[in-house]
Amino acid sequence: MSSFKEKIDTTRLPKHIAIIMDGNGRWAKERGYDRIFGHQNGVTSVRETTETAAELGIEYLTLYAFSTENWSRPQAEVDALMELLIDTIEKETPTLTKNNVRLMAIGDLSRLPNNAGEKLQRCIAQTSQNTGLALVLALSYSSRWEITNAIKNICKEVIDGKCNIEDINDDLISSHLTTKSIPDPDLLIRTSGEIRISNFLLWQIAYTELYFTETHWPAFRKENLYQAISEFQQRDRRFGK
Ligand code: FPP
Repeated sequence: MSSFKEKIDTTRLPKHIAIIMDGNGRWAKERGYDRIFGHQNGVTSVRETTETAAELGIEYLTLYAFSTENWSRPQAEVDALMELLIDTIEKETPTLTKNNVRLMAIGDLSRLPNNAGEKLQRCIAQTSQNTGLALVLALSYSSRWEITNAIKNICKEVIDGKCNIEDINDDLISSHLTTKSIPDPDLLIRTSGEIRISNFLLWQIAYTELYFTETHWPAFRKENLYQAISEFQQRDRRFGK
């Protein structure tokens, strides 16, 4: 059976792939399990996707792991999800380093429980010298939170005389977002059949190619990523020109 991998032109890879990992709950329900079983299986997909992106030579992979809105889920699910996220990050840190992967995080990290925040910062520090794939976890992230925060900070700089209103442009706004050191995504993937963006990277996806698949996140494998990249390479990106 031929693979989508063979169709990929390795000289024209997306530099940055972002993923809305959706469908963990539905995947579990369809199999008669509770939602957390779906999240646990989602970890396998995270591992496989990270490994595949690193192997291909993708520079940035951003995963929407926990949204600001997710704080409103039942407390038991929030606690289980937090624990799973942080335990996984901690457990996988040696493997990340072995594969030269650098961990980064975007979002309102001040809302994470103390011990989770500390563990996350430790893993980020431990992998900070790695030079391969940057794995960016969006945690307690929402785009409107991020943009609101940027506006507040820019206003403060104007009031303090550090910046003039005339200096406010695309670049200045980008440099006040949590993604400031990260190029905009070239490709955004959403799994599980939902055709919406759900408050993810709204500013950054202005010219991003969008790819939607019916596959639930826990079933997402190497081949699904190859297929998405192969379709991305068939798109004609004109950036409005
Ligand atoms: C969406 O499915 C998924 C999430 C809210 C969490 C994603 C988390 C993981 C895959 C766990 C591990 C991640 C890392 C980075 C270690 P959903 O619950 O919204 O599913 P549904 O739409 O079917 O209800």
